[in-house]
Amino acid sequence: MEVPPVEQLAAATLSDGAAVAKHEFSDRVPVRSILCRLDGGAGLAGQRVRVGGWVKTGRKQGGGSFAFLEVNDGTCPANLQVIVDGGVADISQLVPTGTCVALDGVLKVPPEGTKQKIELRVEEVVHVGPVDPAKYPLPKTKLTLEFLREVVHLRSRTNAISAVARIRNALAYATHTFLQKHGFLYIHTPIITTSDTEGAGEMFQVTTLISEAEKVEKDLIKNPPPAEADIEAAKLLVKEKGETVAQLKSAKAGKAEIAACVAELNKAKENLLKLEERSKLKPGIPQKDGKIDYSKDFFARQAFLTVSGQLQVETFACAVSSVYTFGPTFRAEHSHTSRHLAEFWMVEPEIAFADLKDDMNCAEAYVKFLCNWLLDNCFDDMEFMAKNYDKGCIDRLRMVGSTPFERVSYTEAVAILEEAVKGGKQFENKVEWGIDLASEHERYLTEVKFQKPVIVYNYPKGIKAFYMRLNDDGKTVAAMDVLVPKVGELIGGSQREDRYEIIRDRITEMGLPLEPYEWYLDLRRYGTVKHSGFGLGFERMILFATGIDNIRDVIPFPRYPGRADL
Ligand code: 4AD
Ligand code: MG
Repeated sequence: MEVPPVEQLAAATLSDGAAVAKHEFSDRVPVRSILCRLDGGAGLAGQRVRVGGWVKTGRKQGGGSFAFLEVNDGTCPANLQVIVDGGVADISQLVPTGTCVALDGVLKVPPEGTKQKIELRVEEVVHVGPVDPAKYPLPKTKLTLEFLREVVHLRSRTNAISAVARIRNALAYATHTFLQKHGFLYIHTPIITTSDTEGAGEMFQVTTLISEAEKVEKDLIKNPPPAEADIEAAKLLVKEKGETVAQLKSAKAGKAEIAACVAELNKAKENLLKLEERSKLKPGIPQKDGKIDYSKDFFARQAFLTVSGQLQVETFACAVSSVYTFGPTFRAEHSHTSRHLAEFWMVEPEIAFADLKDDMNCAEAYVKFLCNWLLDNCFDDMEFMAKNYDKGCIDRLRMVGSTPFERVSYTEAVAILEEAVKGGKQFENKVEWGIDLASEHERYLTEVKFQKPVIVYNYPKGIKAFYMRLNDDGKTVAAMDVLVPKVGELIGGSQREDRYEIIRDRITEMGLPLEPYEWYLDLRRYGTVKHSGFGLGFERMILFATGIDNIRDVIPFPRYPGRADL
């Protein structure tokens, strides 16, 4: 049987071939390749297939003589309707929600008047993974996303979380497709880092000092350190053995006798060394000059989880021109908002020979590409989102995918906000030149004023990171944030400061130590080049696309203050 090409599998609707393809690496036909055809599967009537999946709903009919099952295997939002006759299997075991089934049967067109275009008449039940409905944590009723966060290991069985997973996967694929198409090289930047990119001090520390200290403490309890007297006795023994060796040598004793005594001396020395080592073991974290002694830590220095791969990816941008990193980033912010995670994924392109305008053009083209990709490749999941979470999400993708983004300077943006305040609009945070725009300000600009994505650029230098290029006015930096409806800040980026003296002074001005950034300064010392880049918060993009309210529901395993399940 011919396997459809990858492009075709990713498409929202499969073409109506006569045959249905078995999964290449498992012994069943994905439900997607039955239901996601233009004809809804009708053209497959009469074909014998094996399907596998989990029962969404099951009900006995005809006084218990047969059962209807809605089976979902996660390959698409739709369920396959299945009919199992009581003569084929014990149907009581099949109907509970959550049961896993693998079924052989024949595809049939259902009677007129049903919404299904095709259903499976089961001939043999090949596998049952049963569920005790009294104990299964996911009852059949509609469950809130909040409730599902308490069963993070099973929530992937739900329509909402699996749709988000497919959308997330599509956006990752689209990201690589867009960047690769434009000649960007994917660079894997480190997760463990010794540089603080944003200089904001919101980093998780990576250390083995604590576990080492615990190990020593346990060991000292089990095996107390030697007493002073033990060490003295060991020293005395070394001295005695030494003297004996000297005596034997001066008495011209036999070789064998001397060698035996030297061996005893060495053993005594070894024992003394061991005792001295152990007597030095101290409970607690090693200290030097009243501070933690990081030279004893795993990396012999302080280390952290990365907040951004930008600084490291710049080393490749300034060598192979167009690069990106796409990986997890970590921020130990204590913000309990619906837009922040402690672990989130970021896409960070970095382009050499590019200024702020090029950067904005790239960001805009990328976001548009993502929106159009979802419309072209995930339409069924987007329809699910529109039906259940956000009526306007498909229109929003269409609008963003086709409308030029508004571009306003920070100074213009503040003037717009001040104008709004004069007109009676109330913000919780005061508006004046120099403030960091709060989420409410960002959303006013994109949702109310312009009703489309807005790129705000040239921010005051005081509220932005040290690496952003200082503008000629001496007050602002060549930064840009992309703000989108529903989310606010989706992207943060800038042209980088490529002038050695200026960036060195900016680091000092911001109260940061120079030493950890010497390697970064080398990029400016040797062969410097104008370059720019940005970071797109991957989960924010999913929030924007799906209309889901809380960022904790668009990452498979959310980490936030107080919570890190699994
Ligand atoms: O604006 P940020 O902090 O920019 C940087 O980290 C730059 N080094 C990026 C670069 O120029 N290469 O973060 C970038 C984006 C934000 O616009 C936001 O979408 C997202 O990352 N983000 C978060 N997403 C979820 N949880 C958090 N705690 C986030 N913090 C930032
Ligand atoms: Mg930012």
